[in-house]
Amino acid sequence: MLVLKTKKELRDELIKIDASVDIGLVPTMGALHLGHVSLIRKAVSQNQYVVVSIFVNPTQFNNVEDLEKYPKTLDNDVHLISSISDQILIFAPSVSEIYPTKIIHKNYEFAGLDKVMEGEFRANHFNGVATIVEELFKLIQPTRAYFGEKDFQQLRIIQKLVEIQKIPVEVIGCEIVREDHGLAMSSRNERLSATIRQKAGFVYETLKTAKEKFGMESATSIKDWVSKKFQENENLKLEYFEIADVETLTPSKKKIDNTKYRAFIAVYAEQVRLIDNIALN
Ligand code: PAJ
Repeated sequence: MLVLKTKKELRDELIKIDASVDIGLVPTMGALHLGHVSLIRKAVSQNQYVVVSIFVNPTQFNNVEDLEKYPKTLDNDVHLISSISDQILIFAPSVSEIYPTKIIHKNYEFAGLDKVMEGEFRANHFNGVATIVEELFKLIQPTRAYFGEKDFQQLRIIQKLVEIQKIPVEVIGCEIVREDHGLAMSSRNERLSATIRQKAGFVYETLKTAKEKFGMESATSIKDWVSKKFQENENLKLEYFEIADVETLTPSKKKIDNTKYRAFIAVYAEQVRLIDNIALN
């Protein structure tokens, strides 16, 4: 199992690969779970060569505590990846390797995709995400790159990044993997107590009911219903719930024909921030 720590080691390895070979890239921040595994398996099934990057990217965190508490489990991650295939290349650089001089993000123009929901509550988060993903694309030059719909807004941002920077990579969206009681898998779930982790299944229950209501009620009425449900819930604090057009991510008040919508939610449980979303039509 190759675990490469520097850009030079990575370049030296990639140069050995024939130019006609398809390379799949799965960018992660480690603390891998079955959500990540589903992306890696898909990459393995579609490409001859797969790179998984593990890097907790400081420029996408707007909260120091969240960055400091982000779980780091490299040995376990390597073990898990090797159980999928021992041919996968792992790129796990240090912060100084990626940001040798200053730990700063680039600034992008994402046509408003970065201004709503996560972008509204996490300033410059998507500039940080795009900075690291663009760097990985440059270093690895993958044929395909895999991103989860769990972070649907991030997936749309990466699609936009590829378009505006004209990067020749196919961006593949992958379905959300959930725990048994419905909570979307996330590295942050590890920070929840067992009781609250179980109770956080309520987030997905709410999304499913919102989906049922979507055919019959207005977005405003569904939003009001969701707010009320969370006011009554003493364990979970709602940050936002939005129904948005999947293309523009603009929160919608009126449904327009031939437009696809998703509901997006962010919730705090025991000071841990959880996000989720569901396709509505
Ligand atoms: P991370 O949170 O580690 O997630 C890595 C990839 O796994 C992302 O594309 C994410 O959407 C996907 N993923 C996470 N949980 C999932 C789940 N339950 N089901 C399906 N896919 C899931 O997202 C990041 O890292 C970073 O922002 C990154 C893109 C690596 C840039 O630093």
